[in-house]
Amino acid sequence: MSSTIESLRVVGGARLEGEVAVLGAKNAALKHMVATLLAPGVHRLSNVPRILDVEIMGNVLRHVGAICARDGTTLEIDVPETPNPEAPLDLVRQMRASILILGTLLARTGEARVALPGGDDFGSRPIDLHLGGLENLGAVFELQHGVLRATAPDGLHGAEVFLEFPSVGATENILLASVLAEGTTTIGNAAREPELTDLATYLTAMGAKIDGAGTSTIKIHGVRELHPSDHRVVPDRLEAGTYAFAGAMTHGHVTIRDCVPAHLRMEMTKLADAGAVVTSGDDWITIEGPDRPGPIDFATLPFPGYHTDMHPQMVALLSVADGTSIATENVYDARFRYIGELNRMGADIHTDGQHIVIRGVEELSGCEVDGCDIRAAAALTIAGLRADGTTTIVGAHHADRGYDGFVEKLTALGATIDRI
Ligand code: UD1
Repeated sequence: MSSTIESLRVVGGARLEGEVAVLGAKNAALKHMVATLLAPGVHRLSNVPRILDVEIMGNVLRHVGAICARDGTTLEIDVPETPNPEAPLDLVRQMRASILILGTLLARTGEARVALPGGDDFGSRPIDLHLGGLENLGAVFELQHGVLRATAPDGLHGAEVFLEFPSVGATENILLASVLAEGTTTIGNAAREPELTDLATYLTAMGAKIDGAGTSTIKIHGVRELHPSDHRVVPDRLEAGTYAFAGAMTHGHVTIRDCVPAHLRMEMTKLADAGAVVTSGDDWITIEGPDRPGPIDFATLPFPGYHTDMHPQMVALLSVADGTSIATENVYDARFRYIGELNRMGADIHTDGQHIVIRGVEELSGCEVDGCDIRAAAALTIAGLRADGTTTIVGAHHADRGYDGFVEKLTALGATIDRI
C-alpha cells in the first residue's frame, strides 16, 4: 500500500452518542445533474452533498458545455442550448453514473459519445440492459476504441421495454431518453428505488409526463421540450443507514435527522433483529445499539429489499455477533473484497458462491486495511470503531466519494477518527 494515499485512522472503543443530520442522496444528485442537460437554462439543485463524485460529475457537465457553480449544498447548473455530445473518457472511467449521459445526450442532441464506464469493482457490471432499452427507442450503437457512439437516425420514439432485472441505471437511462421521445414508452420490471422516484419527480417539475415511478411499471409520455427547474434532493438513505450501523456497532445511542425512515424499512428491521432498539418519526431514526449483536440472516435485493450498498456495514456488525449469520448477495456477483480486510481484523468470515458465512467473534483487533470502495471504507470504519486499538483504512478518498463530512460527523458523535 502506498504511503502517499490518504488514510483514515480510527481508534476503537468509543460509544457513539448524539445527533447527526444527513444530506441529499449521492445516487440521486448525480442523476439529477445529468438530467439538467435535458432543458437549456438555469437549474438549482439543493441538499446536494459535497462529495468527490458530485465534483467529478460537475466536470463531466462542464465538458459538455454547462456552467456549474456551488454555494454550500446548492448547485446551480446553467445548461447551454447545444451541449457537446461527448463525455470525457478519463471522467467517465471514474464513475459508473456517467453512463446516464448516454440516454440524456441522445435525447437532447441526437448523438452521444461516451467511454465505457468504470466505478466500484463489484465483479462484472455490464450495460446490456441500458443499451437494449435505448435500442428499443431507436438508438443505434457503435463501439470504437473503447468509446460508445450512439445515434438515433430516425429520432427516438416511444416503445415497450421489459427489463430482465430491475436495474437502477438502465431504468434511469431509458427514463431520461424517453421524456423527449415521440410517443409513449413503458418500462416493465422497472427499478423502484427512492432515488429513481426522486428523479421522476424532478423531471416532472421540468415538464415531463411520467406515471408509475416507484412501481415496477413506468409510463412516459414524451413531450417536445422541457424547462429548467429547482429541486431538493431526496435524503441519502445510505448515509443515514451507515450512521445507524455505526451507532449499533458501538453500543451507542444515535439519532439520525433529515432522513426518510420508510426508505430504510428493511435495513432497520434487520438491525432490530440483530438486537438494536430502533425508533423513528417523520424524518428521524434513533438507534440504541446492543451490548453485543445477535446473529441474523439477510439477503440483498432491489428496493424495497435489503440494499446491497448496506451489506458491508451489516456484515461488519455481524462479525462481532454472538453466533453465526448468513448473508446472501443477490445484486452483484463479486462484492466481497472487504471481507478479507475484516478477516485481517480478526473476523471469521468466508464466502461460498453468493453466500457469506459470518461466525461472530468476541473482539476485532485494529490493523491496516484497504477501504477498496465507498461502502467497504464505511464498513471498515464501523469495524474500527469497535476494534481493539487503532485501525488504519487506506483509501480515504473512497469515503469522500460517498459521504459529506464523514470524519467530522463521526467525531461529533464521539468517535476518535482522523485523516493521515
Ligand atoms: C446503482 C447505484 C449503486 C447500487 C445499485 C443497486 C448509483 C450511482 N449507483 O448502481 O450504488 O449498488 O444501483 O442498488 O446509483 N446489470 C446488468 N446489466 C445492465 C445493468 C445492470 O447485468 O445493463 C446488473 C449489474 O451488473 C448488477 C445489477 O444489475 O449486478 C444491479 O445493477 P444496477 O441496478 O444497474 O446498479 P447501478 O445503476 O449500476
